Parts: sequence; structure tokens; C-alpha cells
Amino acid sequence: MSVVARPETLPLGGAPTFPSRMWWVAARSAEVGSDLLARRIADRPMVLYRTNEGAVVAIDDMCPHRWLPLSKGRREGDQVRCGYHGLLFNHDGSCAEVPSQPEVSTRVAVRTYAVIERAPWVWVWTGDGDDADPTEIPAYPWLTNPDWRMDEAYLPMAANYLRGHENVLDLSHFDYLHPGGLATQEWTRVRPSLSIEDGVLVEVRDLRSAPAAPNAAAMGVEPGSLVDRRNESRVPTPALHIATTTLRSPAGDGHEYHGAVLHAFTPETERTSHYFFAAARDWRVDDSEFDERFWQMALFTFNQDKDALEAVEQVALTHPGPLREFSVRSDKSGLRLRRLVKELIADEARGQAKSED
Ligand code: FES
Ligand SMILES: [Fe+2]
Repeated sequence: MSVVARPETLPLGGAPTFPSRMWWVAARSAEVGSDLLARRIADRPMVLYRTNEGAVVAIDDMCPHRWLPLSKGRREGDQVRCGYHGLLFNHDGSCAEVPSQPEVSTRVAVRTYAVIERAPWVWVWTGDGDDADPTEIPAYPWLTNPDWRMDEAYLPMAANYLRGHENVLDLSHFDYLHPGGLATQEWTRVRPSLSIEDGVLVEVRDLRSAPAAPNAAAMGVEPGSLVDRRNESRVPTPALHIATTTLRSPAGDGHEYHGAVLHAFTPETERTSHYFFAAARDWRVDDSEFDERFWQMALFTFNQDKDALEAVEQVALTHPGPLREFSVRSDKSGLRLRRLVKELIADEARGQAKSED
């Protein structure tokens, strides 16, 4: 028996969940080299590679002749040769050669995507090429601050990208999905303040004299001792969640620890996503043994999130009856984000309708 996807189980009812006029993280910079990297971004099959000069190129992963994915072909210098009948394409998408005939039509071309590389990631624009505005890519200075330590990784995730956003907006899951690591009852009880500033969702959790989570031992803070902790989450676009933390132990020397965790959720399809994350901190930056432990814990935690979200997506896909979510107070930010994304998609549709008039 085949399983039929029922679209009403998507986070936005039956509606599409991602806008097109958007910069998305398509890859870690480190993933893009001379090989052809096939990756579906917002339901567009792309192939990414780095030219001999070091620039990243993103083009449609589909030969316009008979549609073999170009990622099955090969590089020839900065060009790509299709692996079926050998059409050769320049990195600007134009056709350079058709082996079976002397002439090349200018109408044969591969779509190219605007690309901006901003360490540690490669961003692509899935709207019309002419509209691409690099200033719409949110800034994240923590990841390149030479005085901070930064690590980053990638997880493919078989779940809609908004489920990823909602997971990091509802920290009441810490005690139950991540016991022993991030857990502290305070995360479950605290009511974050929520605001929308110029279309950016901002959520702040301010914990005064709260017991430190078990993982605070890594900062030299006794687990269970009292700390002041401020967490600020910002979702500047549906492509990125930025969480910054300040932690201070009033009973200790009063030193402040700063950290930033960035979650880039990129839709692959409506049911799958690319999860890029990066963590940076300004403490124990030269301690590689600590770094290893810190990063292993982060990977362990994010894999717990991935497992849960994939299981949720499977329920949404396979449940036999109609499904309804039961929302509680801690869903407030996640539900607000759904509305913001819905509005963005509606604005986009209105803009398109206007330009077709
Ligand atoms: S499909 Fe690419 S050359 Fe024919
Ligand atoms: Fe989590």
C-alpha cells in the first residue's frame, strides 16, 4: 500500500510553507569545491560548484536538452559537460557547445541562481535573479569574530523546515527531549516576551537567579548554582533563527559568558529540509579538548531534535485520520512565525499577480 501525503498536515494547513523571494543557505562553504554538488533548495534542483577562481556557482541541475541532471556530468574547467549527449555549459548558464552540430542556439541555456558566500555558508536566491538583494541576508558577526570559537555542521532532516523553527522557538522541550544536557525546569516555566520588530520575530527569556543547567559546568559554573541568563532569539527571515545567550554567575566572579547559536533551516521540499547550524562562544576558545566535548554535546542534542521532528513528519504523512494539533501557551512564538510566513507568501503571490496584470 502506498502512503499518500495529505497536504493538510503541513504546518500551514494545505498551503505551501516557503516563499520563493528568499535567500536560503544552500551549503556549507566547505562542502562546495571542484566537484558538482547536487542539492534541492526550495524545491529547485540545483548544482553547485566552485570555479577555478574560487567563486561559487549555482545552476539548475537539469540539462535543457533531455533533462539529465547536470550533476551527473563533469567539470571541464569552469564549464559543465552534460553526461548524456555532451552539451557544454558556461558558468553563466549559456551553452558553449552542442557536439552533434556545428551551431549553438542562444535559446539553449541553463538557469543560474544568484549566490553570495558569507562564511561559513553559501546563500542562494530563489526569486527572480534581477530582484536579488544581498543586503537581505541577515548579518551574523559572531561566526567570524576572531576572538570567538566557532563550529558548524549540517544535518539533512526529513521534516518540513518550519518544524525546525518551531522546535527552537519552544524551549519547553529541553527538559524532555534533552534531559541531562540543556535541561532545567526554568526553561519549561519561563514565559518569553514576544515582539515583532520590522517583520523580525524577537523572543526574549530573562532568567534571574535560576539554577544553572547541567551543561553550565562547562563554563565553570556549578550545576544547580544560581545564574542570571538572558536568551534572545531572532528570526530575521524564514531562513534563519539566531539565538544569543548571556550568562552570569552572581555568586561567582561575575564574569559574563556569551554565546550564539544559529539555526539555518532551508526547505528542500515541503517534507524535507537542510539543517545548517553554527555555535560560537567567547569562553574557553583555545581549549580544543573542551571544544570537542562541547561540539559532541551540541551534535548529540541537534540529532535528538532531528529524530523527533522526523518522527513528527512521519505521523503527519501516515496517520490514517484527519489530524489536528493541540496548541498550548509555549507555542505562541511558533504560531506567530507561521502567520508571518503565511503573510510573506501571500505578499509574494499578490506581487506576482500585480506584475502579470
Ligand atoms: S540531456 Fe544533456 S545533452 Fe542531452
Ligand atoms: Fe532541541
